[in-house]
Amino acid sequence: MSKHLQQPRSLDVPQRAPGLHWGIKDSFLDYVASTRDGQCTVGGGASPSPSGVFLFEPDRLARSAWPERRFTGEVRFEAHGGMLFVRVVDPWISVEDGQGVLSVLDPDSPDAQARLTLATFALDVALIDPEQPWAVSDVRLAAAGTSIFDDVYPEREPFAPLLVVPGHSHPGRPAVERDQNAIALDSVGRGANAEQEEEEA
Ligand code: HEM
Repeated sequence: MSKHLQQPRSLDVPQRAPGLHWGIKDSFLDYVASTRDGQCTVGGGASPSPSGVFLFEPDRLARSAWPERRFTGEVRFEAHGGMLFVRVVDPWISVEDGQGVLSVLDPDSPDAQARLTLATFALDVALIDPEQPWAVSDVRLAAAGTSIFDDVYPEREPFAPLLVVPGHSHPGRPAVERDQNAIALDSVGRGANAEQEEEEA
């Protein structure tokens, strides 16, 4: 792993901070961390949370109606001298054909606004109170999302559980950091559903 990793400036994100809390995939983070030059970088509204998942902040400019929820931020992984270059940017949650969808900006499209479906999950919106946090444990890689990981994972590969905490960022918090912050990979991605476990305890 790269020796010049900086400590993130926002490791103290409150566990109940509004936004999308998502660990992406533990084994992928472990894999990147195990490479000689593996790096993880966050920025633009994304930060690592103390429980080991990434927090994508709510998009304050978005005017989306439930069940759509828009979040901002980028988590980037690099390894193998740049041959591995994976970006997870601005995730949105929506419901399509009765199924939960997690989409992200399409990293390979010339259209900067183009999105692709990264993962899907079962979601019964009738059972969710949009004002309360809610979580999904069975998150699966969508067919379109396989390209982000160079087709190493097959469609329906299990990904990390996700937690949505409604609301806006705390007024007292620093403004969203637009800089990219390199973070130590062993500080994130462990215990992807730790927040849910804490709540259940
Ligand atoms: C020089 C190029 C590369 C080499 C030598 C390499 C090597 C490897 C090796 C040895 C593994 C198995 C790791 C293990 O099971 O412990 C692996 C897994 C993997 N590689 Fe690469 N890789 C390369 C490029 C890439 C690229 C460009 C991607 C694109 C995203 C990628 C994505 C993955 C993924 C997703 C896994 C599975 C990780 C998991 O266990 O969840 N690799 N790679």
